[in-house]
Amino acid sequence: MKYLKNWDHNTWLSSRKYILSFHKFLKGEIKFKKKIKILDIGCGRGKIISFLSKKYKLNFYPIGVDIINHKIKDSRIKFIRKEAVDYLKNTKNYFDLIIFKQSIHFFSKQKIKQIINISKKALNKNGKIIICTLNVSDISIPTFSLFKTELYKSLKKDKTNINLLKKLLKNYKIKTFKFKVEINKEDYIRMLKKRYISCLLKFSKKEIQIGVNEIRKKYRKKIIFYDRLLCLVYKKR
Ligand SMILES: C[S@@+](CC[C@H](N)C(=O)[O-])C[C@H]1O[C@@H](n2cnc3c(N)ncnc32)[C@H](O)[C@@H]1O
Repeated sequence: MKYLKNWDHNTWLSSRKYILSFHKFLKGEIKFKKKIKILDIGCGRGKIISFLSKKYKLNFYPIGVDIINHKIKDSRIKFIRKEAVDYLKNTKNYFDLIIFKQSIHFFSKQKIKQIINISKKALNKNGKIIICTLNVSDISIPTFSLFKTELYKSLKKDKTNINLLKKLLKNYKIKTFKFKVEINKEDYIRMLKKRYISCLLKFSKKEIQIGVNEIRKKYRKKIIFYDRLLCLVYKKR
């Protein structure tokens, strides 16, 4: 299995502007108090929870779980390198907020059922689960042809996952998170070469190079688009 290592490594997804914007979105859903307990599943480098921990001087360091050790330097979060279902099955912690940001598509149907049911149990009263994922009907990220085919294939699978999530969560709200990306073409090409998104992982070096040539022809020096996420917000009553 190939792991995703460069998602939030010097990309717009790790930029301060993006983190601030995602924080603004979260603030619309959550009242952040010092005593809030947060779990981030598939936290990557933990940029979002690090920001929250510092901003709100949280009493309990947010827990970030990821299957990869991204060598997180921030001491204001508790990073656990573990498969998420394994972590949740064994933890005795309860949370006020559980975040799945662009991580749910890594789980099989069976695992989604498991992880959502355990997450619901691991919530405190009035606790929330926020699941954000790309939305198949609302995609504008720059692609080359092979990448586009692969992305749509995986998004089609995600669509069935979203329906499953809706069934499992039962009462939920749907929200959209939107971020305007302005990126130099060469920086985006660097991201492609580093396989920043999971559907690039399976391509050979040659396929990536052909894709890069396509991107060079297709886009202007500065690429502008919207990174949009569909978010399901569940509240435990
Ligand atoms: C697309 S990245 C999103 C990172 C972060 N949530 C963000 O939005 O910036 C998905 C992350 O999920 C992690 N992941 C995938 N499968 C996992 C699993 N079974 N258990 C824990 N983490 C997992 C990956 O290692 C990766 O860091």
